[in-house]
Order: sequence, then C-alpha cells, then structure tokens
Amino acid sequence: MSKINYLPGKEPHPSETRRIFRNVDREGYNPSIECFIEDGGYKLLADALKKQPSEIIDEVKKSGLRGRGGAGFPTGVKWTFIPRGNTKPVYLICNCDESEPGTFKDRFVVHQDPHQLIEGMIISCFAVGAHFGVVYMREEFPEAAKIMQKALDDAKSKNFLGKDILGSGFDLEIILHRGAGAYICGEETSLINSIEGLRPYPRIKPPFFPAAIGLYGCPTIVNNVESLCQVRQVMEMGGEVFAQTGAPRSPGTRIIGVSGDVKRPGYYEVVSGSITFGELLNDLCGGPKEGRSFKAIIPGGSSSKVMRCDAQLKAANGSPMSVFDIALDLDSIAAHGSMSGSGGVIVMDDSRSMPKVLNNLNRFYAWESCGQCTPCREGNPWMLKLTNRMLSGNAAPGDVDLLKDVADQICGKTVCAFGEACAWPTQAFIAKFREEFVALTEPINALKPHSDEARAARQFLGRED
Ligand SMILES: Cc1cc2nc3c(=O)[nH]c(=O)nc-3n(C[C@H](O)[C@H](O)[C@H](O)COP(=O)(O)O)c2cc1C
Ligand code: SF4
Repeated sequence: MSKINYLPGKEPHPSETRRIFRNVDREGYNPSIECFIEDGGYKLLADALKKQPSEIIDEVKKSGLRGRGGAGFPTGVKWTFIPRGNTKPVYLICNCDESEPGTFKDRFVVHQDPHQLIEGMIISCFAVGAHFGVVYMREEFPEAAKIMQKALDDAKSKNFLGKDILGSGFDLEIILHRGAGAYICGEETSLINSIEGLRPYPRIKPPFFPAAIGLYGCPTIVNNVESLCQVRQVMEMGGEVFAQTGAPRSPGTRIIGVSGDVKRPGYYEVVSGSITFGELLNDLCGGPKEGRSFKAIIPGGSSSKVMRCDAQLKAANGSPMSVFDIALDLDSIAAHGSMSGSGGVIVMDDSRSMPKVLNNLNRFYAWESCGQCTPCREGNPWMLKLTNRMLSGNAAPGDVDLLKDVADQICGKTVCAFGEACAWPTQAFIAKFREEFVALTEPINALKPHSDEARAARQFLGRED
C-alpha cells in the first residue's frame, strides 16, 4: 500500500482510523478512475466476482456490519429479506440523500473517492442478484452529481459496469437519479416513489419492506453510501476480522461529523466504541470555544434526542458517569436514551438558548413534513407556532405542556419515522431543559414582552439578538 500523506491542516488525529475516508483530503489523490485503479481499486471487485453471491452475503453477515443511514439495521440480514425463489428483477439503491441536519459524510466520499462507492455498490449488487442499481442523490449536490456521473461513465468504459463485467458473465447498469430536494426523500420508501416519478409519500411498512416489495413492486435493497463503502471494507478485511474491530454489536469504523460549538468542527473516522464523547469533543475537536463550556449534545443528527452535558448518568454497573464518558457506539449511546443515528454530532455551548435551538429544528420539520398524515402535517406547524410565540414573548402559561402534548400526539402515530424524528427533539428538549421553556412562558415574559424584566430574562436565556 502506497504511503499516504494528507493535505496540510487535514491530517487525521492520532485517535482516528481512516478506512472509508482513507483518500479524503489525501495529498495527490483525485476522484479519477486512473487514480483509484493505481491505488489498487477494483481488485476487490475482480475477487468478489469469482465468489458465489451467497459467500459474499455470508461474509457481510459474519462481519456484523450495521447500516450507517440512521437506523443501524444489520446489512447482511437485510439482504436476506429478498424472498426466496423470487423471479422478479432485484434492484439496489444507494441512498445518497444525506438530508439529516448535522450529517455531512457521504458527500465527501462522492466528491473525493466516488469509485470506492461504485466498487462497493457493484459487489453488493452482485451479492443480492441485482442487475440494475440507482444512486439516488439529493438535488443540493450539483457538483457531486457531475463527479458521480463521470465516475459511472468511466467505470462502464473499463467494463466494471455494463455487460459481462470483467468476463464474469455478470451484467449491471447503475444510473444516477437526482431528487428534487426534500428531506423526506431520504426515507427509503419515499425515495422509491420519487424514482418511480410519484409524489414522494412514504409507503406503509410493515408488513412489506422494500427488500420484498420495493421499486416497481420488485425486491429492492436500499443502503446508505457509507454502508456500501463498508461492504468493500468487509471484502478487504474478511467478515471475521471486521467483526473484531470495535464495539462487538456495531463493529467497524464510524464517520462522525461534528458541527457547532467546538474549536475544530469537521469529520472524524474512528473505530466504533474506541473513544468517548469527552475524547471526541475535547481532544479531536479541541474543546469548547474560548471562555465557554459544553451545554448539550445532539449525538446522531437532528432527530436524535439531545443530551445534557451536566447530567449525572449511571453506568451499567451502577457507578456514576457523565455524558463525556459515553463511548461512541450504537449501544452505548442507546443505553443513555439517545442514538448515534447518522453520525452527525451537533454541539451546543452555554451561549445557546435551547428554546431557540428547538425553534430552529421545528422550522425545519414543519417545512419538510410531506403532509400525508394529519398528526405530522398539522402537528409540526403547531409546534413551530408554539416555540415562535415563546420566543416572541407571547406564550401563555401552560404552553410548555401543550408543546410536549403536541409532540406526544405525533410520535408513533404516523406512516413513517419522520413522526418520531420531528417529535423526539421537542420531547427531549423539554425533558432536559424544561426550566428554559418555562421561563419563557411565565406571565412576566408572556404578558409584558417589552418590559425590562422580560428583556433581562431573554438576555439571560441568550436569545436577545
Ligand atoms: C425522515 C427520514 C429521512 C432519512 N434520510 C436518510 C438519508 O438522508 N440517508 C440515508 O442513508 N438514510 C436515510 N434514512 C433512512 C433510510 O430510510 C434507510 O433506512 C437507509 O437508507 C438504509 O440504509 P442502511 O441500512 O445502509 O443504513 C431516513 C429515514 C427517515 C425516516
Ligand atoms: S410522518 Fe410526516 S413525513 Fe412521514 S408520511 Fe406522515 S406526513 Fe409524511
């Protein structure tokens, strides 16, 4: 393997393990097919095509790889949901919608190392028996779309795509499909409707998941960009070795995108469970901004439940611990009431007003609801209205409970998981920072918005612009 240097200022932190991001910001590396091949690219594909598809599926199952799109579903297991004896075409879709606020990882792969993704995708298509694949890319990635289209054309010109790939007898076409720019199109069934040219309303599931009934009613595997790149890693390392890297129930590396109030925001690829939030924020990200202290963390994209940095938590053995002691892996974060979701960590320091942060999130969800089901379509603007009126000094006593009640009426009562994604922030912000919301609904603030007391309270809460 050739020696790797990174661009000045872009060197990985010693705690990082760069696998998927091995070539991101690498000196002398570019997204061309020549560069990828020179670096050993497409050899894994040639090896994979000599195997039986079932061997690849077994290897991915053995690896314990879990999807990186948000839900953390085991990839190999998902692949086996294609009905036995299926006679219809099978499709594979790469989810490159990357729409969850706080998430910025997939775009780097497409911009800087697109053939890594294409190779992972071809291997995955071969494994599940798909002869047609789609890269579904969000509208807001115009440059990435150009790079991906060129990469697909180049891969075809060298017979990594097309008919009889590398003389194996395996045929595969992959197309690029661009969305029109909607958060909901990241949800897999909505994404499928979007490709079919329909309004992107999510489909009801269960009982039928895309692996059984998906694109045009045919079995369809939808996987995230990073998951498909991880499949390539599984081929390189072998399932067993991959399974032994990092947290036992969520092995492999994880790309964490950190944004917000830290000195060094950015992406970091770490072995799952190898570092804690404290190490991530203080060592890799350089700590809080000057004179500030950490107040809250949203650990896995905007939909994951916010965690309070001064919370006193308990470890599994009952000993006291803090948020900063939580290891960065799926189970450890879930054990403390949130989730690692899409890997987007949003950090807030003590300058932030939590009602203002929630208001910002509510504006996003109210705009992005697809409108198919009533609790989500009506509840989101209602939640926005409530946080708006809290911030404008027009809230009524009882609005905090009303806000929570609206969120409770959405959660679990909708067609798709957007219902949870939009309700969890409100529920968690109120549960963890109730005092800030209550302060904005007390009569002195609510009834005399322009009084000195109200202004002082707003300044204290950090929301006076
Ligand atoms: C509202 C909503 C938005 C989503 N957005 C994305 C997204 O942008 N990218 C993504 O990979 N998965 C997204 N997902 C998850 C997908 O539905 C699906 O589970 C995922 O693409 C499966 O890939 P994986 O198994 O490789 O994780 C979203 C889910 C919901 C409910
Ligand atoms: S929960 Fe919201 S986004 Fe999902 S189908 Fe219902 S209205 Fe659409």
